[in-house]
Amino acid sequence: MSKSTYILGISCLYHDSAAALIRDGKIVSAIQEERYTRKKHDAQIPVHAISNCLKEAAISPGDLDYVVFYEKPFLKFDRILETYFAYAPRGFRQFLMGIPQWLKQKLHVPRELDKALNGEFKGRFVFLEHHKSHAASAFFPSPFSQAAIITLDGVGEWTTASIGTGQDNQIKLKYELHFPHSLGLLYSAFTYFTGFKVNSGEYKLMGLAPYGKPVYQDLILKELLDLKEDGSFRLNMDYFTYCYTQVMVGRKFEQLFSGPRRKPESPITQREMDIAASIQKVTEEIMLRIARFAHKETGMKNLVFAGGVALNCVGNGRILRDGPFENFWIQPAAGDAGAALGAALFVHYQLLNNPRKPDERMDTQSASCLGPTYSNNEIRQFLDSVGACYHYHEDEPKLLEQIARDIEQNKVVGWFQGRMEFGPRALGSRSILGDARNEQMQMRMNLKIKFRESFRPFAPSILLEQASDYFELPHDEESPYMLLVAPLRDSYRIKMSEEQKKISGFELLKVKRSQVPGITHVDYSARVQTVDAVRHGRYYRLLQQFKKNTGCPLLINTSFNIRGEPIVCSPENAYNCFRSTNMDVLVLQDCVLYKAEQPEMKKVEINDYLQQFKLD
Ligand SMILES: [Fe+2]
Repeated sequence: MSKSTYILGISCLYHDSAAALIRDGKIVSAIQEERYTRKKHDAQIPVHAISNCLKEAAISPGDLDYVVFYEKPFLKFDRILETYFAYAPRGFRQFLMGIPQWLKQKLHVPRELDKALNGEFKGRFVFLEHHKSHAASAFFPSPFSQAAIITLDGVGEWTTASIGTGQDNQIKLKYELHFPHSLGLLYSAFTYFTGFKVNSGEYKLMGLAPYGKPVYQDLILKELLDLKEDGSFRLNMDYFTYCYTQVMVGRKFEQLFSGPRRKPESPITQREMDIAASIQKVTEEIMLRIARFAHKETGMKNLVFAGGVALNCVGNGRILRDGPFENFWIQPAAGDAGAALGAALFVHYQLLNNPRKPDERMDTQSASCLGPTYSNNEIRQFLDSVGACYHYHEDEPKLLEQIARDIEQNKVVGWFQGRMEFGPRALGSRSILGDARNEQMQMRMNLKIKFRESFRPFAPSILLEQASDYFELPHDEESPYMLLVAPLRDSYRIKMSEEQKKISGFELLKVKRSQVPGITHVDYSARVQTVDAVRHGRYYRLLQQFKKNTGCPLLINTSFNIRGEPIVCSPENAYNCFRSTNMDVLVLQDCVLYKAEQPEMKKVEINDYLQQFKLD
């Protein structure tokens, strides 16, 4: 029997560090470090993620054949130096602040990774360009043997966007856009200006957009960028300060939008809503133009997509609906965490020239449930150790019947099962679930369970076979990774009265817009996750049971965490989150806990828990 080849992909030292392990081309494990350290977007060397990848494969660092890093540090340093000299003497302070970390860590990645691997690694280090890592993460796990590839993010070394093709076991990038011209950074600049956190609040900006009107769209296109027909563009750098300061935009930008940046956590006004709507429209336009150009240049019918901008699911919905491609696959860990996986797959296919035979009915991402799992014994041991009161259900149908009934009775359920998700979305392994038919649910879950802003919408998980009854998903596309936004069908909408049509801003939250108000955004859209029997197992069966009881094939699915907290990883994380919030029920695989039956938690303990996570 020949020896297996193990390749470990790593992304770190910027944000969202992660490790991914593949064995003979099969994904064994992929994990974000933040899930272990409990620090959102943790950028440190992912020692916990690495060790858990190795544990999953039952190997030691000495068994690894390749360790591949998701970017080229020297090329990135070159970009930083060149940018500094181009803007000098401006940016001197920022330059001085950044240099120690480069000299200490970032320019010595092999040494640092050697340390993380206990000095036992004897194989070869590989460094791959950042956008090749993203492109590989989009193409190699996809179900296509050939596809056009688009990558869009903030920045890697120099590249901020690329277009290429994937053919069997090879990818080729043909067109690139370079720093400082970047769609990711443009969106982040507006994220910053509207008072949200860069590299994490982009999602909030997208969620805010439907409350506003795109009144600044023309201004943005006229003043801030020169957009070409092929989707490429040049930013007017007079307005952006990210090349030489820690902040994204300065005074000139403020003048353009008639006032200073919104202070974080201060009230959101109509201006921020309109800005959000405007930059979202511009982003969609750029995404669509790039998609059309990629289609024209490659002649392919399939498209794959990765990079942080691929998390803009409203834009993805537009590409699918209005773009020229027939099929579309997006890497669920589209940000930098997923680049660790792409880098590892690149070595296996492209560098080692191993054959690739995709199954066109199913990707190889395994529902993106690639993280750690915990046995019922481990869960029970933990629950016993903390004196929790729980009901153990060996019989799955009974458990599902009970939980479906609890949800129907408006209980909010923490749902923990199987392997943890890789990527930013909870997909039914570490989720909080609720009844979408309940009008109060969005407000209640936002304010009492997640402790987050009341305007933020929730997403539905829906049985795949009924998805197109409820949502307008073009070509009956599936959406197992919750990366597509689609309009709710007319038959489920509740038409607004003439009086209601005059309502604007967050007042719209009070208007019941559909028969499933918990997941219907103010523009009647929803970020859909389709749930199928093959990928989703017990979660699929829970939805089936809920449908059997109520006739409704969908549930609210939001990530199992509170604001600022990484998604829960272990039973202990889940138990702590359950205890510190107003969640009613916790399902830890076969164990069911009710809040009312638990020993009371002291207020000070709850506060300690809530305060350990910085607001994002
Ligand atoms: Fe990236």
